[in-house]
Amino acid sequence: MSLAEWDGKYLIGVAEIDAHHQHLFKLIQQAFDDYSKGSSDQVVRTLLDELMEYAAYHFAAEEILMGEIGYPKLLEHSAEHTLFSDKVKEMMDLYESIGSSVLTSILIFLNAWLTQHILQKDMDYARYCKDRPLAPSKIATA
Ligand SMILES: [Fe+2]
Ligand SMILES: [Fe+2]
Repeated sequence: MSLAEWDGKYLIGVAEIDAHHQHLFKLIQQAFDDYSKGSSDQVVRTLLDELMEYAAYHFAAEEILMGEIGYPKLLEHSAEHTLFSDKVKEMMDLYESIGSSVLTSILIFLNAWLTQHILQKDMDYARYCKDRPLAPSKIATA
């Protein structure tokens, strides 16, 4: 079993957001690698906590950006973020009660959700972003 790795096709063209996405991929992969090589539960749990915190930070940043550009599907998009956070919370509760056997399923879910969400939902606001003014720090320089 392997997770989808970071790839140029996930670039949405907003530098700050692309860096967030890349970091999210990295954290999921790291949790998977740590678990696979038998790291302690505590190490994996700390990484998952970091991942959840970082995801919340990323979602907030995206929602601010969508607000700034007047993206018309902001509410719909942020509802997806909320749904995701709720789902992850549910899975983490399962992890607490069942143990690490569900960890692989959790990481596969996180990875699949992230790739689909970027390609469909984040790309959509990125397209909307294109012709609208943004702070220079947020414009990809590639
Ligand atoms: Fe998003
Ligand atoms: Fe995103």
